[in-house]
Amino acid sequence: MISLESIQRRYASDEVETTALADINLEVREGEFLAIMGPSGCGKSTLLNILGTVDRPSAGRYLFGERDLAVMDEASLAKLRGETLGFVFQSFNLIDELTIQENVELGLAYRRGLNGDRRKRVEQAMDRVGISHRARHYPHQLSGGQQQRAAIARAIVGEPSLILADEPTGNLDTENGQQVMDILTSLNGEGATIVMVTHSPSHADMALRRIDMLDGRIVSSVARAI
Ligand SMILES: Nc1ncnc2c1ncn2[C@@H]1O[C@H](COP(=O)(O)OP(=O)(O)O)[C@@H](O)[C@H]1O
Ligand SMILES: [Mg+2]
Repeated sequence: MISLESIQRRYASDEVETTALADINLEVREGEFLAIMGPSGCGKSTLLNILGTVDRPSAGRYLFGERDLAVMDEASLAKLRGETLGFVFQSFNLIDELTIQENVELGLAYRRGLNGDRRKRVEQAMDRVGISHRARHYPHQLSGGQQQRAAIARAIVGEPSLILADEPTGNLDTENGQQVMDILTSLNGEGATIVMVTHSPSHADMALRRIDMLDGRIVSSVARAI
C-alpha cells in the first residue's frame, strides 16, 4: 500500500539544522496494524505527518499504491487525504464551536456526491464509537474518552483505507485508552490499515507489527506472533 524509500526530513533554521528523519525505509501493507514506538523527539510525529501527506520529505521516495507523491500537487494531495486518510491525534483536535455531530461531519468535507447519504454516514460513525447520545453536545461537555471517540468518528466517517493515529491514548486513562484500542482493533479487523504512534508497550502489543525508532531511524521491526 505504502512504500517509503530513504526518506529524510531536515528542518533548517538560520543557526541549526535538525534532522527529524535520517533514513526511513518502510513498507506498510494493506490491512496492517503498525505501532511506532521510540523516545520523544525521535521523529515519530514527523513520520506520521509525512505518511499523512501534510508534510513533505526533504529527500527520498514515497509511493502510495502506484502513485509517487513527489509529483502530486497540493490539490491532488488534499483529495487523497480527504478520500483515503483518517487522522487521530493525542489532543483530539475537535473544533470547540461545533457540536459533536458537526465535528464528525467535517470528516466528509472533501467528499462529494454523497448527498442524502451524509447524515446516515455521520450517524453510523457516531454509533460505531458509542457517542450518538452526545451528538448535540459541544466537545467541552464531553469527557476525554468521549472526545477521542468523537475524533475517531470524524476520522472514519469517510471510510478511509488508512488511519493514522498519533498517540491516540496518550491523554486518556486506562479504561478509556482500552476503549480506543478496542475500536482501532475492530476497525483493523474490518480491513482498515492503521499506523499508530504510542508510548504504551501494552497498546503496541495489540498491533500486528511494532517498529522502534531512534534518532530519525527505524531500529527494529517485529511482527507479533499470532
Ligand atoms: N517544525 C519543526 N521545526 C524544527 N524542528 C522540528 C519541527 N518539528 C519537529 N522538529 C524536530 O524534529 C525532531 C523530531 O520531532 P517529532 O517528529 O515531533 O518527534 P516525536 O514525535 O518522536 O516526539 C525533534 O528534534 C523536533 O524538535
Ligand atoms: Mg510526537
